Amino acid sequence: MLNVSDLELRVGARVLMSDVSFRVSDGDKIGLVGRNGAGKTTLTKTLAGDLQPAGGSIERIGEIGYLPQDPRSGNPEELARTRILDARGLGSLVVGMREATEQMASADPEVSEKAMKRYTSLNDRFLALGGYAAEAEAAAIASNLALPDRILDQPLKTLSGGQRRRIELARILYSGARTMLLDEPTNHLDADSVGWLREFLKGYQGGLIVISHDVELVGDTVNRVFYLDANRQVIDIYNMNWKNYQKQRESDEQRRKRERANAEKQASSLQMQAAKMGAKASKAVAAQQMAKRAEKLLSGLEDVRASDRVAKLRFPEPAACGKTPLMGRDLSKSYGSLEIFTAVDLNIDRGSKVVILGLNGAGKTTLLRILSGVDKSDTGEIISGHGLKVGYYAQEHETLDVNRSVLENMVSASPHLTETEARKVLGSFLFSGDDAHKKAGVLSGGEKTRLALAMLVVSSANVLLLDEPTNNLDPHSRDEILGALASYSGAVVLVSHDEGAVEALNPERVLILPDGVEDHWNKDYADLISLS
Ligand SMILES: Nc1ncnc2c1ncn2[C@@H]1O[C@H](COP(=O)(O)OP(=O)(O)OP(=O)(O)O)[C@@H](O)[C@H]1O
Ligand SMILES: [Mg+2]
Repeated sequence: MLNVSDLELRVGARVLMSDVSFRVSDGDKIGLVGRNGAGKTTLTKTLAGDLQPAGGSIERIGEIGYLPQDPRSGNPEELARTRILDARGLGSLVVGMREATEQMASADPEVSEKAMKRYTSLNDRFLALGGYAAEAEAAAIASNLALPDRILDQPLKTLSGGQRRRIELARILYSGARTMLLDEPTNHLDADSVGWLREFLKGYQGGLIVISHDVELVGDTVNRVFYLDANRQVIDIYNMNWKNYQKQRESDEQRRKRERANAEKQASSLQMQAAKMGAKASKAVAAQQMAKRAEKLLSGLEDVRASDRVAKLRFPEPAACGKTPLMGRDLSKSYGSLEIFTAVDLNIDRGSKVVILGLNGAGKTTLLRILSGVDKSDTGEIISGHGLKVGYYAQEHETLDVNRSVLENMVSASPHLTETEARKVLGSFLFSGDDAHKKAGVLSGGEKTRLALAMLVVSSANVLLLDEPTNNLDPHSRDEILGALASYSGAVVLVSHDEGAVEALNPERVLILPDGVEDHWNKDYADLISLS
């Protein structure tokens, strides 16, 4: 349970929200929404106790399970399984029992005797905490999140960012925390896992705050909606399900529009009268007051307009290149004994649009990394055609240098860029003057996505390799980016779970992993997207 009163949150000098009061009780399932950069992550981080609020108080009753938007580190040497099991105190017991079992086989009777005793005592505690049933429960949750045994037996440091995030999610769902704060839990999940999570959250008895751009998940699970309005710096609380919230919100917007039109009318008539009266000395004071009132009416309106601002994106005219700028021949990749894909061939023609489909773990991200030159394939080669310029968008935003500013990142993407030009492009991606000097590391999830895309824009790439580019984006920004993709004249290789994104790209071809079969795009493949 959470009890929040008069909360105020700031970052630097900027107030994100103030006068925020609410309560999260058992059975409350709250969808927290608001545009990118509004402060959703900052709020959940504060509720979890990772940040201190500028004002107000937070009372926490019971355990809180918090899934941050960025992958969290944990001890890198720890096994994934231990990390999950430790949520109920079982992890270190299992490790200890395994060690004791090994020592029990010792030839030294003293050692084996001691190990036996230790095993018994650990085992007692293990059983008291739920024992094998609890362990099986953890394994079931993990497997539903596409984390097979093979991965659970690896240390955290060997896992990808997406896998680590799934481990964290499994840990929280397993912990039985009374309140869960989930920041974009579906970002690294395949469709099956998302479906399973939806059911899990529906049946969850505790309190929940979830931030998600997955409308279906929110639509299916929440019974309250908190709308964080970045312009008014308040949270509007809607105690209703998603469908009703949307209706209510639409009528709220309509009402605001009407109020705005009325206010504008009033203000202009006030201004006219004030101008008339202002000419007469005897009425100068009244005229001034009227002018002030008009000003006040209008100043309230600026805010409303600002909320309509969304990124107006256009991808660059790509640099000239040959007929087939990028080719892959006989590409294979294995991790240890696990074969990801073998003998994949592909041609990326100038201006062509290709979608890569395949189940989770089929190697879509790996293939993009190889095509971009970040990773090496085990066999085969990448052949660059004449004039090739690759623009790679990484799912984890790993192309951003988190220690450098927004502007510095832009300049590193295109060294010839002047500061003025860089700022202009940043502006069209909704970064204001001050934002340019922010460190990339403090940006919100959606802001990082926008910056990474802005860097592609200035690099004049002719082959874009995009790995889940619509994750984290609010609906308006997502539409803008999809619109820009549709009209882009360079080649695009897209990996996405987002059917709308694939539709907007209107691909000619599809490559299916792990088999590496290439085919012309047809509607039947659309059904595969949500499975991939
Ligand atoms: N240390 C900081 N200095 C300056 N600005 C910061 C700092 N930390 C966060 N911000 C800014 O605070 C704002 C809120 O960030 P937050 O991550 O809470 O947004 P969000 O609502 O979660 O957005 P998204 O939907 O993109 O994830 C962003 O504009 C971000 O750049
Ligand atoms: Mg966020």
